[in-house]
Amino acid sequence: MTIETVPFEAGCGAEIRGVDIRQKLSPEDRDQIRAAWLDHLVLRFRDQMMSDDQHMAFTRQFGELEFNPGALIAKQYGVQTETSGRRREIPPEISVISNIIEDGKAIGGLGDGEAFWHTDSSFVDVPPAASLLRSLECPPPSAGGATEFLNMYAAYEMLPADVKTRIDGLAMIHPATHSSGGKAHKGFENVTDVTKVPGARQPLVRTHPETGRKALFLGRRLNAYVIGLPVEESESLLDFLWEHTTQEKFTWRQEWRVGDLIWWDNRCAMHRRDAFDPSMRRLMHRTQLKGTRPV
Ligand code: OGA
Ligand code: MN
Repeated sequence: MTIETVPFEAGCGAEIRGVDIRQKLSPEDRDQIRAAWLDHLVLRFRDQMMSDDQHMAFTRQFGELEFNPGALIAKQYGVQTETSGRRREIPPEISVISNIIEDGKAIGGLGDGEAFWHTDSSFVDVPPAASLLRSLECPPPSAGGATEFLNMYAAYEMLPADVKTRIDGLAMIHPATHSSGGKAHKGFENVTDVTKVPGARQPLVRTHPETGRKALFLGRRLNAYVIGLPVEESESLLDFLWEHTTQEKFTWRQEWRVGDLIWWDNRCAMHRRDAFDPSMRRLMHRTQLKGTRPV
């Protein structure tokens, strides 16, 4: 089989065709997929309905599996955020993203609302390198629920030179207070002073450990704070950076089909999700690869 990499006409992303990722990959195919991922930041594989075991086995061919964010938050902050209705048979390396309610409890995270632009779990010191999200059930595109991805290399490269100089060496707090859906994490409901928000200290510009390229690293907007600046200055710098970063030209938009698997580089791509019709079921499972400390 020959693998085809078809780049999207967008700010990032490519579709990989001609490979069944439910089977063990040959070393050549694996290397080609890995190279495409580093080049394009986001990969789409279509028509790959699979089990959690196959999903984890595919992921493991590219590194070590990370645990779900509930476990990461518990480890760093000692608070429990796990969703209560999660099915017991689902392994801790799988995150469930869903609006489905069973026995009165949500079986997964994020509900049916908009999820704001974010990097996954950048509020822990060592965020995952990658997320691999597969669709088990999803509404038709006309009902919403599309996911957008954003190229943070390009966002950095296109910054005005004086802003690049200004942010060089700055660090910020990536707040652990809220999910990307804007819901306060349990135990973090009452934070008001952004200079004292629990979170991870991260560089504003990070160098990708594999490609050596620089990328803007913003995490999420709510409760973010640039360390060392008066709050007002931090707010206006962040507002400028977010306005610049979230330009459509840096993005690619995924409209989901059942059987899609999307694999993004969490070190240089952000993502967000549209709200969708609450009467529809949407069920996604996600694995993640362990990352390294951002520098
Ligand atoms: C995620 C995420 C968005 C979506 O899995 O990290 O943000 O479209 N998902 O479900
Ligand atoms: Mn996410």
